[in-house]
Amino acid sequence: MGRVENKVAIITGAASGLGLASAQRLAEEGAKVVMTDINVEQGIAAAANIKGAVFIQHDVTSEQAWEGLVNKVVADFGCLDILLNCAGIVQLASIENTSEELWRKINAVGTDGTFFGCKHAVRVMKEQHSGSIINMCSTASIQGGPQIFAYAASKSAIRGMTKSIACLSSQEGYGFRCNSVHPGNMSTPMLHGMMDIVRAHDPKTAAEMDGIWVGQPIDIANMVLFLASDESASVNGAEMVVDNTVTITEGVVPKH
Ligand SMILES: NC(=O)c1ccc[n+]([C@@H]2O[C@H](COP(=O)([O-])OP(=O)(O)OC[C@H]3O[C@@H](n4cnc5c(N)ncnc54)[C@H](O)[C@@H]3O)[C@@H](O)[C@H]2O)c1
Repeated sequence: MGRVENKVAIITGAASGLGLASAQRLAEEGAKVVMTDINVEQGIAAAANIKGAVFIQHDVTSEQAWEGLVNKVVADFGCLDILLNCAGIVQLASIENTSEELWRKINAVGTDGTFFGCKHAVRVMKEQHSGSIINMCSTASIQGGPQIFAYAASKSAIRGMTKSIACLSSQEGYGFRCNSVHPGNMSTPMLHGMMDIVRAHDPKTAAEMDGIWVGQPIDIANMVLFLASDESASVNGAEMVVDNTVTITEGVVPKH
C-alpha cells in the first residue's frame, strides 16, 4: 500500500524539473497522476515512463482551460485528491527594467495560473470534503532578490493565496487543505538556464551563487508527497521551506 495509494493528482509543469520529480514520486507511492504542461513533446515522453500517469496538454494561464481540465479529470477518474500547482517561469530583471509585458508574463503563469487552478480545485474538493492543494512557491517569497522582482512578487502572491484558501477551508469546514512549498535553489533546467545567464553577464554574482547550497528535485518531491498524503492531515496553510538554512543564514552555508 503506497502513501498516496489510488489518490488522483493533477500536476502542472510536469514535463520538467520539480513537477516531473513530484509526478514520479507520487506515482511510486500509488497515485494516479495527470501530468500537464505546455511542452507537449517532453510531457508525453515523461508520462510514458511513469506507471499509471497520463499527459494532458494544458496552459495554466487560461481559466477556461482549467475548468475543462478539472472537469475532465473528475469525469475520467471520479475525483480530484491532489493538485500541485508547479508550472512557473523566471526571467531576471530588477524593478528598474521590468516592463509591463514581463510583469504580466511572469504573473500570468505563476499568479493567474495558481489562482485559476486553486479556484477550480476548491469547487471540487469542497464537494468531496477532502483534498490537498500544494502551491509551488519559492524562498523568493521570503527574501525577494534584486533581479527577481516580478518572480518574487508572483511567489509572494501565491504564498498569500495559499493561506487565504486554507483559512477559508478551515473556517467553513470544507475539509480540504492548502499549503505552499518554498524551495531554495534546486538543480533543474530553470536554475541551470538562469545560472547560464548570470555567468554570462555577471561573473562575480555567479561565483557567489556557486557557493550557495543547491538541492535536488527529489528533495521537493518528498515534501510534496508528505503534503499530498494523509500523513499531513493537520498541516493546513503552512509554508514548507526546503533550503538547508539558506534563508536564515543569508546564503552562507558551510561547504562540507
Ligand atoms: N529550480 C529552482 O531552483 C526553483 C526554486 C524555487 C521555486 N521553483 C519553482 O518550482 C516550479 C518548477 O520549477 P522548475 O525548476 O522545475 O522549472 P522547469 O523550467 O524545469 O519546469 C517548469 C515547467 O513549467 C512549464 N510551464 C511554463 N509555462 C507554462 C504554462 N503557461 N502552462 C503550463 N506549463 C507551463 C514548463 O514547460 C516546464 O516544463 C516553478 O514554479 C518554479 O518557480 C524552482
